[in-house]
Amino acid sequence: MGTYVVTGSASGIGAATTHLLEDEGHTVIGVDVLETTVRADLSTPQGRADAVTGIRTALRGGHLDGIAAVAGAGAHLDDPGKVLAVNYFAPVAVLEGLRRELAAGGEGRAVVVSSNSAGTAPLIDETLVRTVLTGDEEAALERARGRHIELPEEIAESAPSITAYASSKLALSLWVRRTAVTAEWAREGLLLNAVAPGAVLSPSVRSAIPPDTDPDNFPTPIPLGVFGQPEDVAFWVHQFLRPQARFTTGTVLYVDGGTDAAMRPEGSPLPLAPPEEVGAAEDAAGDGEGTRGP
Ligand code: NAI
Repeated sequence: MGTYVVTGSASGIGAATTHLLEDEGHTVIGVDVLETTVRADLSTPQGRADAVTGIRTALRGGHLDGIAAVAGAGAHLDDPGKVLAVNYFAPVAVLEGLRRELAAGGEGRAVVVSSNSAGTAPLIDETLVRTVLTGDEEAALERARGRHIELPEEIAESAPSITAYASSKLALSLWVRRTAVTAEWAREGLLLNAVAPGAVLSPSVRSAIPPDTDPDNFPTPIPLGVFGQPEDVAFWVHQFLRPQARFTTGTVLYVDGGTDAAMRPEGSPLPLAPPEEVGAAEDAAGDGEGTRGP
């Protein structure tokens, strides 16, 4: 039986993933700001360092079979800096901090939970995404807290951190695609993928729904006509964690009832640009500047 880390294990998708793994007899080291194996606040660099130390202590020199970085902070929070820190800098720090322990078993699996809002929310701050991807957390938090994208009034009230949320998830999906194929991950046998959910009725989402609304019978534009349940997402997180999932890395899998496909029918796959454009993009990438998106 294996040993897995699940962040955000106390609720929703993280809790459902933990149950799937434990039902198979695996050991799960849960990480959460709420009660679990390793209690840590992943919104701060110190909290993340404490989490990595706590996980190593729980491992007692052993290796990890997989990490599911699920913890996340929603767009309803007032502090966009905190949203960015929990959604991007936390999963990256936990995965990079434990890469050695993950590689030690020879078949390490890592999964992050991104969001379909990375491609379907209109209020992304591309400068923020680029800043996040440099890894400069202080500059990124300052940019997020500067609120450079003006929000319509009704969104500003219900989702004041939507720009930080969607931008953090776009940056996380891009980080996965860029990192998974590097020698440090791919040639070490470490597989790294993202699951990007759409609207899922986890406890935090349910608690934000007005009491007179029945979320299980609510008209929704989601093509499948229903909201997701935490178990629907945990199923795919679990698949990516399995040793048998051995030829997929750098993928962003949408688990959103068809929303991404409906909103961006031409979104993916995109044909490769003509050779001269690819060459120019590679030259620019060498200077740290990509030409196709952030
Ligand atoms: P949830 O609120 O039920 O669970 C999130 C967990 O993360 C909680 O246990 C919470 O305590 C933990 N957490 C939050 N801040 C933390 C911090 N600073 N340090 C340590 N732990 C912290 O939410 P849900 O829905 O299960 O979300 C899981 C992931 O799925 C998140 O990354 C979220 O952004 C993502 N997601 C959720 C969607 C939804 O509609 N529910 C849609 C798209 C993405």
